[in-house]
Amino acid sequence: MIPLEVVDKNFNTNRQDNWWFEPTVFAIAFITFAIYSLSVVLFDFDAGRAASAPNLAGTHYNSPFYGPDPGFIFPFGLPFAFFTLWAPFGFRGTCYYMRRVYYRSIFPVITTHGPPACAVDGMKAFKGKYKGENAFPWILNNFHRYFLYAAMLLAIFHWYEAFNSTRFTEGIGIGIGTMLAFIDAVFLTLYIITCHAFRHLFGGGVDRQGSFTNKIWSKISKLNVHHGKFFWASLISIWAWDLYIRLLSYGIVSDYRVIF
Ligand code: FES
Repeated sequence: MIPLEVVDKNFNTNRQDNWWFEPTVFAIAFITFAIYSLSVVLFDFDAGRAASAPNLAGTHYNSPFYGPDPGFIFPFGLPFAFFTLWAPFGFRGTCYYMRRVYYRSIFPVITTHGPPACAVDGMKAFKGKYKGENAFPWILNNFHRYFLYAAMLLAIFHWYEAFNSTRFTEGIGIGIGTMLAFIDAVFLTLYIITCHAFRHLFGGGVDRQGSFTNKIWSKISKLNVHHGKFFWASLISIWAWDLYIRLLSYGIVSDYRVIF
């Protein structure tokens, strides 16, 4: 039996297990993904689009970070995708599950209000800086339900790109890229429909026992317990699809496909 008393010093605890493993892995994955997505949008834009990457010619493979891509380039060379990043970042950044991730993995090193795990103390160095979700910027988390609508639109774009990826110069087919695009669309959809705010649309605060919406709410509620898994599955599948496009684009791998 692990004693659970908290000792009042930085990250002190009597826990004997590797409590630090999960928050550390989550922090590395989250920060790496944020740097990767910003970098490809800002500095490697053309390599992710069939219209501008020679090695993608003959396909309709487009990076999931760019959809919808009207091809606009704004002043200072900033691509349109830079201005649409707010939607996925806003949705994921205010996600209830995501909050748990950064409250446990990143906050503990900058505030006292983010113990990284049960019965583990936070750091004391920055005591008093955190004001909860009552002050900027964390009060913006309350906009999650509105980011949901933007995310639903994004899901439509991802499905569009998935079906678009079945089109090749030789005809309709399925390539490795197509499969990755559909996996991405499926996991993004599962991530969105298991969102707490989405679930609330069908059952929140209203007595609808036995109604159609109540049945949907019950089904979503069963899936909702897996929301965290869908969060990571969706993040990894977006990453995989984008990375694959870039490997193709740079001629590092070849696409295998079947044309019907
Ligand atoms: S709670 Fe995670 S996306 Fe809404």
